[in-house]
Amino acid sequence: MSQTATSAAAAELMELELRYGAHNYHPLPVVLAKGEGIYLWDVDGKRYMDFLSAYSAVNQGHCHPHIVGALVEQAKTLTLTSRAFHNDALGPYERFATEFFGYDKLLPMNTGVEGGETAVKLARRWGYRKKGIPNNQARVIFAEGNFWGRTLAAISSSTDPSSHDQFGPFMPNFDVVPYDNLEALEHALQDPNVCAFMVEPIQGEAGVVVPTEGYLAKAYALCKQYNVLFVADEVQTGIARTGKLICCEHENVRPDILILGKALSGGVMPVSAVLADDEVMMCIGPGEHGSTFGGNPLACKVAQAALEVVRDENLAERAEELGEVFRSAVGELVDKHELAAKVRGRGLLNAVVINDTATSPTAWEICLKLAELGLLAKPTHGNIIRFAPPLIISEEELLEGVAKIDKALTMQAKENGLL
Ligand SMILES: Cc1ncc(COP(=O)(O)O)c(C=O)c1O
Repeated sequence: MSQTATSAAAAELMELELRYGAHNYHPLPVVLAKGEGIYLWDVDGKRYMDFLSAYSAVNQGHCHPHIVGALVEQAKTLTLTSRAFHNDALGPYERFATEFFGYDKLLPMNTGVEGGETAVKLARRWGYRKKGIPNNQARVIFAEGNFWGRTLAAISSSTDPSSHDQFGPFMPNFDVVPYDNLEALEHALQDPNVCAFMVEPIQGEAGVVVPTEGYLAKAYALCKQYNVLFVADEVQTGIARTGKLICCEHENVRPDILILGKALSGGVMPVSAVLADDEVMMCIGPGEHGSTFGGNPLACKVAQAALEVVRDENLAERAEELGEVFRSAVGELVDKHELAAKVRGRGLLNAVVINDTATSPTAWEICLKLAELGLLAKPTHGNIIRFAPPLIISEEELLEGVAKIDKALTMQAKENGLL
């Protein structure tokens, strides 16, 4: 087992988390203290390339000056009013974001999972008010392997035992169909009580699972055929990560409900949003949904600045171009290394599947070696390593990262007796 060298200071900080924090995560043994652009530094001053970007929340790079500038300025002025009153940042942000993404209205929330909850509530409401589903009978279809957070509703649709085991009872009227399977989807859509199909255009947490080309467009068309809302969970794939502003654009799909989070704030604070047209959004009225922090002026200024960076620095185009560079370079590593089975992804949301076994957690070991070499990435689902650097990364830096992956695979192959 390889270990990353940890100083006494780092060890003490990890020990504090272990001693006083809940054990609901299993982080790599790296204690971070500073971030700038694509780089992170640990408490001992060691520099790492960030190839996780806080699960795609830091698409704009760490501590982007434009976003942090907006945060600091607003933090000194007004942070929270609640929605009991109007504030002078919400309206301008809502206008900016709805024009940016092309929807009538935006509903502001905080975390990604709240965005998902909001979307399900909106879809149910629309089902009762517009589709005529009998009260309390609405059904929502999800795809196997989905991940949209940790609330009871989110885990009720989860097919991952570690998410839902012994947390029941669960939300009723959630149906799960296999991902990337139109036949199963069409079968489920035939139930007249279905109000929505909620889907990730690429399944991030499941291991960057990219559906067959045409799946999203056909799934959308089927939803239209059966008068069901197509809800896109773009919390991880949205905001330029996959080479388009939202991933559904790759198939010219405009979701009926769009859920955004993570990079909506550039990783500065939790900001999420649900976008929809009036036909859907106006199904919820005053007092029927909300959040103390949703739409707070600090979040509004931060989110607007974060979107301005995406626009001004052409992050979608960069992700598209650099994604090609990454997959082509890592494709060569897949040919070279027995340990690397394949690379897949879109834009700068990619993953390498490691030839792994349950008894030999090689992907974890490779991530430890990458950390030693100064690159941070994390396995997902055991044998898959996701690589998702900030979209501001240069081609040179990206290839430097690929060279580290090459080196780590060689080190691991030696350790596994393959070389
Ligand atoms: C696709 C997707 N939806 C929703 C979420 C939940 O976001 P949050 O952790 O901010 O609640 C995640 C988090 O990883 C996600 O990947």
